[in-house]
Amino acid sequence: MSDGATARGSATEREEARKIAEGLEHLSGFGNEHSSEAVPGALPVGRNSPQRAPLGLYAEQLSGSAFTEPRAVNRRSWLYRIRPSAAHPAFTRTGNGALRSAPFTQTVPDPNRLRWNPLPDPAEGTDFLAGLWTLGGNGDVTQRTGMAVHLYHANASMRRVFSDADGELLIVPERGGLLLRTEFGLLHLEPGHIALIPRGVRFRVELLDETARGYVCENYGAPFQLPDLGPIGANGLANARDFRAPVAAYEDVEGPVEVVNKYCGNLWTATYDHSPLDVVAWHGNHVPYAYDLRRFNVMGTISYDHPDPSIFTVLTSPSDTPGLAGVDFVVFAPRWLVGEDTFRPPYFHRNVMSEYMGLIEGAYDAKAAGEGGFVPGGGSLHTMMSAHGPDRETFDRASAAELKPQKIDDGLAFMFETRWPVSLTPQAARAEHLQQGYDDVWQGLERHFRPLH
Ligand SMILES: [Fe+2]
Repeated sequence: MSDGATARGSATEREEARKIAEGLEHLSGFGNEHSSEAVPGALPVGRNSPQRAPLGLYAEQLSGSAFTEPRAVNRRSWLYRIRPSAAHPAFTRTGNGALRSAPFTQTVPDPNRLRWNPLPDPAEGTDFLAGLWTLGGNGDVTQRTGMAVHLYHANASMRRVFSDADGELLIVPERGGLLLRTEFGLLHLEPGHIALIPRGVRFRVELLDETARGYVCENYGAPFQLPDLGPIGANGLANARDFRAPVAAYEDVEGPVEVVNKYCGNLWTATYDHSPLDVVAWHGNHVPYAYDLRRFNVMGTISYDHPDPSIFTVLTSPSDTPGLAGVDFVVFAPRWLVGEDTFRPPYFHRNVMSEYMGLIEGAYDAKAAGEGGFVPGGGSLHTMMSAHGPDRETFDRASAAELKPQKIDDGLAFMFETRWPVSLTPQAARAEHLQQGYDDVWQGLERHFRPLH
């Protein structure tokens, strides 16, 4: 559209979207058996598939796990919609843009520590889908293993609808509010929040600010779940009650709507004669959800030593080896440091897991911020067995600091931590915004060794 008043992302449109976003109701809890109806009486009572569903709706099941998986991990929802999802024309291939999928075999796996500046600004009219840019990942979409690290940058709201058959999408905004319109209803996201769109769920991303930027973990493996708490007990880390699921909301739109489907690594498109966001009621446990990372209940030492960062796990995608995640989503949220006789920043280490870190705001306590450093919208990759830890400045400061209680409250960083090495896409390996000389942050760590005589 060329008319400024109706252009995608116009100020009026954003204002309307923000009004909707800020007035949303939601359902509380993680993994619950939720139910919701946008029109009273739309949800069948006592059965999933009556001979005639209420209000002339079609009943449809959406599976997020095999029918036969154990109850504790079984996911499915029943949707009651104006038309069944099956009512669509054939999909045809469309361009993948800068979106790439596993297996990532186009570059030689690189053992180096790498860091990127934020993505450059997108071209005018870039929506969330067009603005997805893949950094790398692992596994294989056809085997439903592994994950991909994407970044996004956008300056226009989506008109089209997207769904990802290859995995669930964990969206981590760093700049700009978002209104997610999904088959299950609407979710409001601001930087510092995350959202999870389950595999196959159709959705559209609308912008609440002029531009939007952030990160996406596409998880090809088992759906994210809350980590076990072990001796922490019944409460703590991300509390289940703080997760928000949408209430049912539907579009009754007759007319052409483009629907893009990511399937086995490629984008496919079809023009429907109606909006597929036409679910009037639903129930089930396979739902999109949002979470405010500032609600994370941070655990840490109250005696000595820096605990392993697994204690900051928000969500985990288990693999077939207990305790070994396909991918963990970890947050470094504001917290107190009180360890006695302790080097308080993250320690030097080499990890069998691979770590992609991003920064939502502020600074991270092991790295200098500012130009050419670890900045919001940028990211670092410390792949399997790469040696990393605090930079020289941080090491010197923390080794000499007076160990009084200290509040870290100027940053929000996160990590996608995966059991497999992360391979880069060619565009990430050759990006202009890939920093040169990242190794230098560990230069100048002085020799302090003094053998006793
Ligand atoms: Fe690390």
